Amino acid sequence: MADLIDITREGRVALVRLNRPAQLNALNLALAEELVAATEALDRDRTIGAMVLTGSPKAFAAGADIAEMAGKSAEEMVEADFFAIWDRFAACRIPKIAAVNGYALGGGCEVVMMCDFAIAGEGARFGQPEVKLGVIAGMGGTQRMTRLIGRSLAMDLHLTGRTMRADEALRAGLVARVVPDEEVVPTAMAAAAEIASYSRGAVRLAREAVAKAEELPLAEGIRYERAVFHRLFGTPDQREGMAAFVEKRPARFHAPADEAAPSDPEAGA
Ligand code: HXC
Repeated sequence: MADLIDITREGRVALVRLNRPAQLNALNLALAEELVAATEALDRDRTIGAMVLTGSPKAFAAGADIAEMAGKSAEEMVEADFFAIWDRFAACRIPKIAAVNGYALGGGCEVVMMCDFAIAGEGARFGQPEVKLGVIAGMGGTQRMTRLIGRSLAMDLHLTGRTMRADEALRAGLVARVVPDEEVVPTAMAAAAEIASYSRGAVRLAREAVAKAEELPLAEGIRYERAVFHRLFGTPDQREGMAAFVEKRPARFHAPADEAAPSDPEAGA
């Protein structure tokens, strides 16, 4: 079988490239299975601290594979729990940066929103055009987009199916940065390398705490954050990070295998 994704490593960062360029990286089940297995393996790999997910120059991904879905019945979609596999991608704790060139439509835009943040090229285009196909988003798009950019703009995109340019996506908060097209992957790789250079435990808990803001009421979220913050005190990386600042030298965080990231901060806080 042809490889539907391509993985390269640079230091502690993995670059994962969707590799169905002739189909604009349409997300079929085989690609999803390969990507999810790879991401779960990277998540377990303590020599890797962050990943960048990208596509090809014309498309990050133009959506779920329409040809694969076209003939399916409601029973088949329910029975297969079609798209549930993507929940496993979203659940991976490895920091994920989407590096977006070209189209990120439908499921492609939804995968961007599953990543922790996105860096887009000036020519990137985002949208949820499912309504034009007689369906709606099925990989979390109505929920994640509304939380990210607000009800009004999310309604606009989901009901009209229009595409949004990178500058509008930046203003809306759908992407974190916009750079010239050719700088998208290098910029994302540099950001990922920076993340991967920090304490693995602190990074994982920081992304989990930010993600909690989508689920928890404010007071509960603040209690969660405080518990994580307290829990990090006394870890070797907290000692090293603060000592390095005081001594005016670069921090040398522990080799990743030395440190376990506490996953339930409230248990011992
Ligand atoms: C399958 C796709 C595809 C897709 C593109 N292709 N998008 N195949 N699924 N989502 C294929 C085309 O069939 C074509 O194959 C090749 O990729 C190149 O695409 P073109 O259309 O020829 O390119 P272009 O004219 O430049 O138009 C680009 C585009 C257009 C505007 C992005 O491809 C497009 O509108 N694609 C569909 C976008 C979309 O509706 N996405 C949402 C999907 S639904 P051939 O063999 O002809 O060369 C979804 C959520 C599902 O994601 C949830 C529902 C439950």
